Amino acid sequence: MKSKFQKVKGTYDILPDESRLWRKVENIIHSLSEQFSFEEIRTPVIEKSNLFNQNIGNGTDVQKEMFSWKDIAGEDIVLKPEMTAAVVRAYLENGLFRSNPFSKLYYIDSFFRREKPQKGRQRQFHQFGVEVLGGDKKGSDQDAEIILIASKLIKKLKIDNAQLLINNIGTPEERKKWNDDLKNYFTKYKTSLSKISQQRLARNPLRILDSKEPEDKQIILESPKFISDDKYEINKFAKLQENLNALNISFKIDPFLIRGLDYYNGNVFEITANVRKSQNALCGGGRYDFLVEKMGGPSTPAVGFAAGIERLIMFSNLEAQENQIDAYIICKHADYYEKTLKLIERIVDKKYKIYFATRWDKLKIERAEKMNAKFAIQVGKENFWALDLTNKKSSEPIISKQISGFLKELNFQ
Ligand code: HAM
Repeated sequence: MKSKFQKVKGTYDILPDESRLWRKVENIIHSLSEQFSFEEIRTPVIEKSNLFNQNIGNGTDVQKEMFSWKDIAGEDIVLKPEMTAAVVRAYLENGLFRSNPFSKLYYIDSFFRREKPQKGRQRQFHQFGVEVLGGDKKGSDQDAEIILIASKLIKKLKIDNAQLLINNIGTPEERKKWNDDLKNYFTKYKTSLSKISQQRLARNPLRILDSKEPEDKQIILESPKFISDDKYEINKFAKLQENLNALNISFKIDPFLIRGLDYYNGNVFEITANVRKSQNALCGGGRYDFLVEKMGGPSTPAVGFAAGIERLIMFSNLEAQENQIDAYIICKHADYYEKTLKLIERIVDKKYKIYFATRWDKLKIERAEKMNAKFAIQVGKENFWALDLTNKKSSEPIISKQISGFLKELNFQ
Protein backbone atom coordinates (compact mmCIF):
# COMPACT_ATOMS: atom_id res chain seq x y z
CA MET A 1 0.00 0.00 0.00
CA LYS A 2 1.34 3.39 -0.89
CA SER A 3 1.39 5.58 2.16
CA LYS A 4 -0.71 8.73 2.02
CA PHE A 5 2.22 10.89 3.10
CA GLN A 6 5.76 10.51 1.85
CA LYS A 7 9.11 11.85 2.91
CA VAL A 8 10.89 14.59 1.00
CA LYS A 9 13.13 13.37 -1.83
CA GLY A 10 16.67 12.61 -0.67
CA THR A 11 15.70 12.22 2.99
CA TYR A 12 15.08 8.99 4.88
CA ASP A 13 14.02 7.58 8.22
CA ILE A 14 16.41 5.80 10.55
CA LEU A 15 14.30 3.06 12.08
CA PRO A 16 15.06 1.35 15.42
CA ASP A 17 16.90 -1.59 13.87
CA GLU A 18 19.35 0.82 12.25
CA SER A 19 19.40 3.49 14.92
CA ARG A 20 20.96 1.03 17.35
CA LEU A 21 24.01 0.94 15.08
CA TRP A 22 23.92 4.74 14.70
CA ARG A 23 23.97 5.09 18.46
CA LYS A 24 26.94 2.76 18.70
CA VAL A 25 28.83 4.73 16.05
CA GLU A 26 27.95 8.04 17.72
CA ASN A 27 29.14 6.73 21.10
CA ILE A 28 32.47 5.76 19.53
CA ILE A 29 32.77 9.25 18.00
CA HIS A 30 31.98 11.00 21.29
CA SER A 31 34.43 8.97 23.31
CA LEU A 32 37.19 9.24 20.71
CA SER A 33 36.77 13.03 20.48
CA GLU A 34 36.80 13.29 24.27
CA GLN A 35 39.98 11.19 24.45
CA PHE A 36 41.66 13.84 22.32
CA SER A 37 40.05 16.60 24.46
CA PHE A 38 37.98 18.04 21.63
CA GLU A 39 34.87 19.79 22.92
CA GLU A 40 31.45 19.54 21.36
CA ILE A 41 29.93 22.53 19.60
CA ARG A 42 26.31 22.78 18.44
CA THR A 43 25.07 25.52 16.16
CA PRO A 44 21.62 26.30 14.70
CA VAL A 45 20.35 24.32 11.76
CA ILE A 46 19.49 27.54 9.92
CA GLU A 47 21.94 30.32 9.12
CA LYS A 48 21.87 33.49 7.07
CA SER A 49 22.62 32.71 3.42
CA ASN A 50 25.53 35.12 3.15
CA LEU A 51 27.54 33.08 5.67
CA PHE A 52 27.95 30.37 3.05
CA ASN A 53 27.59 32.47 -0.10
CA GLN A 54 30.60 34.51 0.92
CA ASN A 55 32.74 31.89 2.59
CA ILE A 56 32.52 28.48 0.94
CA GLY A 57 32.90 29.89 -2.55
CA ASN A 58 30.38 31.30 -4.95
CA GLY A 59 29.84 28.82 -7.73
CA THR A 60 31.00 25.74 -5.78
CA ASP A 61 28.65 22.75 -6.04
CA VAL A 62 27.83 23.01 -2.35
CA GLN A 63 26.82 26.66 -2.66
CA LYS A 64 24.66 25.92 -5.70
CA GLU A 65 22.93 23.08 -3.87
CA MET A 66 21.84 24.99 -0.78
CA PHE A 67 18.26 24.86 0.42
CA SER A 68 17.58 28.56 0.76
CA TRP A 69 14.54 30.80 0.96
CA LYS A 70 13.48 34.28 1.81
CA ASP A 71 12.06 34.43 5.30
CA ILE A 72 8.81 36.29 5.95
CA ALA A 73 10.92 39.14 7.39
CA GLY A 74 12.81 39.38 4.11
CA GLU A 75 15.97 37.69 5.36
CA ASP A 76 17.74 35.10 3.18
CA ILE A 77 18.02 31.88 5.18
CA VAL A 78 19.61 28.49 4.46
CA LEU A 79 19.62 25.03 5.97
CA LYS A 80 23.30 24.66 6.70
CA PRO A 81 25.15 22.71 4.01
CA GLU A 82 28.37 22.29 6.03
CA MET A 83 29.77 23.22 9.41
CA THR A 84 33.14 24.93 8.99
CA ALA A 85 31.77 28.40 8.19
CA ALA A 86 29.17 28.02 10.97
CA VAL A 87 31.86 27.08 13.51
CA VAL A 88 33.98 30.09 12.53
CA ARG A 89 30.92 32.34 12.82
CA ALA A 90 30.26 30.97 16.33
CA TYR A 91 33.96 31.31 17.28
CA LEU A 92 33.88 34.99 16.32
CA GLU A 93 30.35 35.91 17.38
CA ASN A 94 30.74 34.38 20.86
CA GLY A 95 34.20 35.85 21.44
CA LEU A 96 35.90 32.42 21.66
CA PHE A 97 38.78 33.93 19.71
CA ARG A 98 39.48 35.97 22.85
CA SER A 99 38.39 33.63 25.65
CA ASN A 100 39.61 30.42 24.06
CA PRO A 101 41.72 31.37 21.04
CA PHE A 102 43.05 27.83 20.67
CA SER A 103 39.82 25.85 20.32
CA LYS A 104 39.57 22.17 19.49
CA LEU A 105 35.95 21.53 18.60
CA TYR A 106 33.88 18.64 17.27
CA TYR A 107 30.30 18.07 16.14
CA ILE A 108 27.80 15.51 14.96
CA ASP A 109 25.08 17.21 12.99
CA SER A 110 22.67 17.11 10.05
CA PHE A 111 23.44 18.98 6.84
CA PHE A 112 21.44 19.71 3.71
CA ARG A 113 22.46 19.80 0.07
CA ARG A 114 20.13 19.64 -2.89
CA GLU A 115 22.08 16.88 -4.64
CA LYS A 116 20.85 14.19 -6.97
CA PRO A 117 20.08 11.46 -4.45
CA GLN A 118 21.71 8.05 -4.79
CA LYS A 119 23.24 5.44 -2.50
CA GLY A 120 25.56 7.27 -0.12
CA ARG A 121 24.37 10.67 -1.25
CA GLN A 122 21.35 12.25 0.38
CA ARG A 123 19.83 15.69 0.61
CA GLN A 124 19.87 15.47 4.38
CA PHE A 125 22.97 13.73 5.69
CA HIS A 126 25.05 13.65 8.86
CA GLN A 127 28.64 14.53 9.51
CA PHE A 128 31.06 14.06 12.34
CA GLY A 129 33.64 16.80 12.08
CA VAL A 130 36.46 18.46 13.98
CA GLU A 131 37.72 22.02 13.66
CA VAL A 132 40.88 23.35 15.29
CA LEU A 133 41.11 27.12 15.43
CA GLY A 134 44.34 28.78 16.57
CA GLY A 135 47.35 26.62 17.16
CA ASP A 136 50.69 26.43 15.49
CA LYS A 137 51.13 28.12 12.14
CA LYS A 138 54.39 26.51 11.13
CA GLY A 139 54.14 22.81 11.80
CA SER A 140 51.87 20.10 10.49
CA ASP A 141 51.42 18.34 13.82
CA GLN A 142 47.86 19.62 14.15
CA ASP A 143 47.04 18.24 10.70
CA ALA A 144 48.59 14.92 11.75
CA GLU A 145 46.62 14.87 15.01
CA ILE A 146 43.27 15.19 13.27
CA ILE A 147 44.23 12.62 10.64
CA LEU A 148 45.11 10.33 13.56
CA ILE A 149 41.59 10.86 14.94
CA ALA A 150 40.06 10.04 11.55
CA SER A 151 42.19 6.95 11.11
CA LYS A 152 41.42 5.70 14.65
CA LEU A 153 37.74 6.15 13.88
CA ILE A 154 38.01 4.17 10.66
CA LYS A 155 39.72 1.34 12.61
CA LYS A 156 37.19 1.38 15.43
CA LEU A 157 34.36 1.20 12.90
CA LYS A 158 36.05 -1.79 11.25
CA ILE A 159 36.17 -0.21 7.82
CA ASP A 160 38.51 -2.27 5.67
CA ASN A 161 40.92 -0.98 3.04
CA ALA A 162 40.23 2.72 3.47
CA GLN A 163 42.83 4.89 1.79
CA LEU A 164 44.24 8.22 2.92
CA LEU A 165 44.97 10.67 0.10
CA ILE A 166 46.90 13.87 0.75
CA ASN A 167 47.86 16.89 -1.28
CA ASN A 168 49.03 20.45 -0.82
CA ILE A 169 47.10 23.05 -2.78
CA GLY A 170 49.43 25.96 -1.95
CA THR A 171 48.50 29.52 -1.12
CA PRO A 172 45.21 31.18 -2.16
CA GLU A 173 47.11 33.14 -4.85
CA GLU A 174 48.62 29.94 -6.23
CA ARG A 175 45.23 28.27 -6.21
CA LYS A 176 43.76 31.15 -8.16
CA LYS A 177 46.54 30.95 -10.76
CA TRP A 178 46.09 27.16 -11.01
CA ASN A 179 42.36 27.66 -11.53
CA ASP A 180 43.10 30.12 -14.37
CA ASP A 181 45.64 27.74 -15.97
CA LEU A 182 43.09 24.93 -15.81
CA LYS A 183 40.42 27.13 -17.32
CA ASN A 184 42.67 27.82 -20.33
CA TYR A 185 43.62 24.15 -20.64
CA PHE A 186 40.11 22.66 -20.31
CA THR A 187 38.58 25.27 -22.61
CA LYS A 188 40.61 23.70 -25.44
CA TYR A 189 38.82 20.37 -24.80
CA LYS A 190 35.43 21.83 -23.95
CA THR A 191 33.37 19.81 -26.41
CA SER A 192 34.98 16.51 -25.36
CA LEU A 193 34.31 17.04 -21.65
CA SER A 194 31.33 15.48 -19.84
CA LYS A 195 28.28 17.64 -19.34
CA ILE A 196 28.97 18.14 -15.66
CA SER A 197 32.59 19.17 -16.36
CA GLN A 198 31.41 21.65 -18.98
CA GLN A 199 29.26 23.27 -16.30
CA ARG A 200 32.18 23.28 -13.89
CA LEU A 201 34.39 24.89 -16.50
CA ALA A 202 32.24 27.98 -16.35
CA ARG A 203 31.90 28.00 -12.57
CA ASN A 204 34.94 26.39 -11.03
CA PRO A 205 37.44 24.66 -13.37
CA LEU A 206 39.42 23.18 -10.45
CA ARG A 207 36.46 20.95 -9.66
CA ILE A 208 36.83 19.21 -13.01
CA LEU A 209 39.81 17.41 -11.46
CA ASP A 210 37.31 15.69 -9.17
CA SER A 211 35.31 14.24 -12.06
CA LYS A 212 34.79 10.48 -12.22
CA GLU A 213 33.24 10.62 -15.74
CA PRO A 214 35.07 8.29 -18.15
CA GLU A 215 35.25 10.85 -20.99
CA ASP A 216 37.12 13.30 -18.72
CA LYS A 217 39.72 10.84 -17.48
CA GLN A 218 42.44 11.26 -20.10
CA ILE A 219 41.98 15.01 -20.41
CA ILE A 220 42.40 15.35 -16.64
CA LEU A 221 45.51 13.15 -16.61
CA GLU A 222 47.22 15.47 -19.07
CA SER A 223 46.15 18.69 -17.37
CA PRO A 224 48.77 21.09 -15.91
CA LYS A 225 50.02 19.76 -12.58
CA PHE A 226 50.28 21.97 -9.58
CA ILE A 227 53.22 22.06 -7.19
CA SER A 228 53.47 24.88 -4.70
CA ASP A 229 56.45 27.22 -4.97
CA ASP A 230 55.74 28.56 -1.53
CA LYS A 231 58.59 27.53 0.81
CA TYR A 232 56.30 27.54 3.78
CA GLU A 233 53.77 25.20 2.14
CA ILE A 234 56.45 22.90 0.70
CA ASN A 235 57.87 22.50 4.18
CA LYS A 236 54.46 21.86 5.74
CA PHE A 237 53.64 19.18 3.21
CA ALA A 238 56.97 17.44 3.85
CA LYS A 239 56.40 17.69 7.62
CA LEU A 240 52.94 16.15 7.30
CA GLN A 241 54.41 13.16 5.48
CA GLU A 242 57.08 12.76 8.17
CA ASN A 243 54.42 12.93 10.89
CA LEU A 244 52.24 10.34 9.16
CA ASN A 245 55.22 8.04 8.67
CA ALA A 246 56.04 8.37 12.37
CA LEU A 247 52.46 7.34 13.16
CA ASN A 248 52.63 4.46 10.68
CA ILE A 249 49.61 5.83 8.82
CA SER A 250 49.95 4.94 5.17
CA PHE A 251 48.97 7.53 2.58
CA LYS A 252 49.09 8.29 -1.09
CA ILE A 253 49.84 11.69 -2.61
CA ASP A 254 47.05 12.60 -5.00
CA PRO A 255 47.94 15.66 -7.12
CA PHE A 256 44.30 15.88 -8.25
CA LEU A 257 42.88 16.19 -4.75
CA ILE A 258 41.57 19.75 -4.57
CA ARG A 259 38.49 19.63 -2.27
CA GLY A 260 35.16 21.13 -3.21
CA LEU A 261 35.06 24.25 -1.06
CA ASP A 262 37.00 27.44 -1.66
CA TYR A 263 38.31 28.16 1.82
CA TYR A 264 41.10 25.57 1.75
CA ASN A 265 44.82 26.20 1.41
CA GLY A 266 47.94 24.12 1.99
CA ASN A 267 47.62 20.54 3.24
CA VAL A 268 44.34 18.84 2.31
CA PHE A 269 43.28 15.23 2.64
CA GLU A 270 40.53 12.72 2.03
CA ILE A 271 39.90 9.20 3.21
CA THR A 272 38.17 7.05 0.63
CA ALA A 273 36.62 3.62 0.80
CA ASN A 274 38.37 1.31 -1.57
CA VAL A 275 35.61 1.16 -4.18
CA ARG A 276 35.45 2.78 -7.58
CA LYS A 277 32.34 4.81 -6.99
CA SER A 278 31.77 8.52 -6.87
CA GLN A 279 30.33 8.22 -3.36
CA ASN A 280 33.47 6.68 -1.90
CA ALA A 281 34.69 9.73 0.09
CA LEU A 282 34.32 8.87 3.75
CA CYS A 283 35.98 11.93 5.08
CA GLY A 284 37.58 15.14 3.79
CA GLY A 285 39.31 18.17 5.16
CA GLY A 286 42.36 20.32 5.30
CA ARG A 287 43.76 23.67 6.33
CA TYR A 288 41.82 26.91 6.04
CA ASP A 289 44.27 29.43 7.45
CA PHE A 290 42.60 32.49 5.91
CA LEU A 291 38.93 31.91 6.64
CA VAL A 292 38.77 33.40 10.15
CA GLU A 293 40.42 36.60 8.96
CA LYS A 294 38.22 36.74 5.88
CA MET A 295 35.20 36.50 8.18
CA GLY A 296 36.38 39.53 10.16
CA GLY A 297 38.46 37.89 12.89
CA PRO A 298 42.15 37.98 13.74
CA SER A 299 44.61 35.97 11.65
CA THR A 300 44.01 32.41 12.91
CA PRO A 301 45.51 29.20 11.52
CA ALA A 302 42.86 26.52 11.22
CA VAL A 303 42.36 22.94 10.12
CA GLY A 304 39.53 20.44 10.21
CA PHE A 305 37.74 17.58 8.55
CA ALA A 306 34.27 16.10 8.30
CA ALA A 307 33.22 12.50 7.77
CA GLY A 308 29.83 11.48 6.40
CA ILE A 309 28.18 9.23 8.98
CA GLU A 310 25.92 7.46 6.44
CA ARG A 311 29.02 6.50 4.48
CA LEU A 312 30.93 5.42 7.57
CA ILE A 313 28.01 3.16 8.45
CA MET A 314 27.69 1.92 4.87
CA PHE A 315 31.30 0.67 4.87
CA SER A 316 31.53 -0.34 8.54
CA ASN A 317 31.63 -3.98 9.58
CA LEU A 318 30.42 -3.21 13.07
CA GLU A 319 27.27 -4.87 14.25
CA ALA A 320 24.58 -3.22 16.28
CA GLN A 321 24.37 -4.24 19.88
CA GLU A 322 21.49 -6.55 20.62
CA ASN A 323 18.82 -5.02 22.73
CA GLN A 324 19.09 -6.51 26.24
CA ILE A 325 16.79 -5.92 29.15
CA ASP A 326 16.86 -7.11 32.74
CA ALA A 327 13.17 -7.59 33.37
CA TYR A 328 10.19 -8.09 31.10
CA ILE A 329 7.22 -7.10 33.19
CA ILE A 330 3.63 -7.92 32.66
CA CYS A 331 0.56 -7.24 34.71
CA LYS A 332 -1.99 -10.01 34.96
CA HIS A 333 -4.99 -7.77 35.35
CA ALA A 334 -5.80 -4.06 35.05
CA ASP A 335 -6.46 -3.98 38.82
CA TYR A 336 -2.78 -4.60 39.52
CA TYR A 337 -1.36 -1.74 37.48
CA GLU A 338 -0.56 0.39 40.53
CA LYS A 339 1.36 -2.42 42.10
CA THR A 340 3.13 -3.08 38.82
CA LEU A 341 4.06 0.55 38.31
CA LYS A 342 5.49 0.74 41.82
CA LEU A 343 7.58 -2.33 41.13
CA ILE A 344 8.81 -0.80 37.88
CA GLU A 345 9.81 2.41 39.59
CA ARG A 346 11.91 0.54 42.12
CA ILE A 347 13.54 -1.60 39.53
CA VAL A 348 14.58 1.35 37.34
CA ASP A 349 15.80 3.26 40.40
CA LYS A 350 18.17 0.35 40.96
CA LYS A 351 19.47 0.99 37.42
CA TYR A 352 17.98 -2.15 35.92
CA LYS A 353 16.50 -1.97 32.47
CA ILE A 354 12.88 -3.02 32.09
CA TYR A 355 10.35 -3.58 29.37
CA PHE A 356 6.79 -2.96 30.50
CA ALA A 357 4.36 -4.95 28.40
CA THR A 358 1.58 -2.44 28.91
CA ARG A 359 -1.28 -4.75 28.11
CA TRP A 360 -2.69 -6.97 30.79
CA ASP A 361 -2.25 -10.41 29.54
CA LYS A 362 -0.84 -13.81 30.37
CA LEU A 363 2.90 -13.99 30.49
CA LYS A 364 4.10 -15.04 27.07
CA ILE A 365 7.62 -16.33 27.44
CA GLU A 366 8.41 -16.07 23.72
CA ARG A 367 7.79 -12.34 23.80
CA ALA A 368 10.10 -11.90 26.77
CA GLU A 369 12.73 -13.99 25.02
CA LYS A 370 12.40 -11.95 21.87
CA MET A 371 13.14 -8.86 23.93
CA ASN A 372 16.32 -10.57 25.20
CA ALA A 373 15.08 -10.36 28.78
CA LYS A 374 17.02 -11.90 31.66
CA PHE A 375 13.90 -12.18 33.80
CA ALA A 376 10.21 -12.25 33.08
CA ILE A 377 8.03 -11.03 35.89
CA GLN A 378 4.28 -11.32 36.05
CA VAL A 379 2.46 -9.28 38.65
CA GLY A 380 -0.57 -10.96 40.13
CA LYS A 381 -2.90 -10.10 42.95
CA GLU A 382 -0.86 -11.60 45.79
CA ASN A 383 2.52 -12.28 44.37
CA PHE A 384 4.90 -12.16 41.45
CA TRP A 385 5.64 -14.94 39.11
CA ALA A 386 9.21 -14.59 38.03
CA LEU A 387 11.08 -16.65 35.55
CA ASP A 388 14.83 -16.63 35.17
CA LEU A 389 15.24 -16.79 31.41
CA THR A 390 19.01 -17.08 31.58
CA ASN A 391 18.70 -20.35 33.46
CA LYS A 392 15.47 -21.84 32.21
CA LYS A 393 15.43 -25.46 33.29
CA SER A 394 11.75 -26.23 33.25
CA SER A 395 8.97 -24.80 31.21
CA GLU A 396 7.14 -24.06 34.45
CA PRO A 397 7.79 -20.60 35.88
CA ILE A 398 10.19 -20.86 38.80
CA ILE A 399 11.28 -18.31 41.28
CA SER A 400 15.00 -18.68 41.11
CA LYS A 401 17.30 -17.64 43.91
CA GLN A 402 18.61 -14.86 41.80
CA ILE A 403 15.26 -13.32 41.03
CA SER A 404 14.02 -13.59 44.58
CA GLY A 405 17.23 -11.83 45.64
CA PHE A 406 16.51 -9.23 42.99
CA LEU A 407 13.04 -8.60 44.36
CA LYS A 408 14.22 -8.68 47.97
CA GLU A 409 16.78 -6.07 47.15
CA LEU A 410 13.94 -3.98 45.82
CA ASN A 411 12.15 -4.49 49.11
CA PHE A 412 9.20 -6.04 47.36
CA GLN A 413 8.86 -9.46 48.84
P1 HAM B 1 32.80 17.79 2.28
O1 HAM B 1 33.88 17.10 1.53
O2 HAM B 1 31.84 18.61 1.52
O3 HAM B 1 33.56 18.70 3.35
O4 HAM B 1 31.99 16.75 3.14
C1 HAM B 1 32.66 15.87 4.03
C2 HAM B 1 32.05 14.48 3.97
O5 HAM B 1 30.63 14.55 4.16
C3 HAM B 1 32.20 13.79 2.62
O6 HAM B 1 33.47 13.16 2.50
C4 HAM B 1 31.08 12.75 2.67
O7 HAM B 1 31.48 11.62 3.43
C5 HAM B 1 30.00 13.50 3.45
N1 HAM B 1 28.98 14.05 2.53
C6 HAM B 1 29.02 15.21 1.84
N2 HAM B 1 27.89 15.37 1.11
C7 HAM B 1 27.12 14.30 1.34
C8 HAM B 1 25.82 13.88 0.87
N3 HAM B 1 25.08 14.62 0.05
N4 HAM B 1 25.32 12.69 1.31
C9 HAM B 1 26.05 11.93 2.17
N5 HAM B 1 27.27 12.28 2.64
C10 HAM B 1 27.80 13.44 2.23
C11 HAM B 1 32.94 19.54 4.23
O8 HAM B 1 31.76 19.55 4.45
C12 HAM B 1 33.93 20.38 5.02
N6 HAM B 1 33.16 21.28 5.90
C13 HAM B 1 34.87 19.50 5.81
C14 HAM B 1 35.84 20.27 6.63
C15 HAM B 1 35.76 20.52 7.95
N7 HAM B 1 36.92 20.89 6.19
C16 HAM B 1 37.51 21.51 7.18
N8 HAM B 1 36.81 21.30 8.27
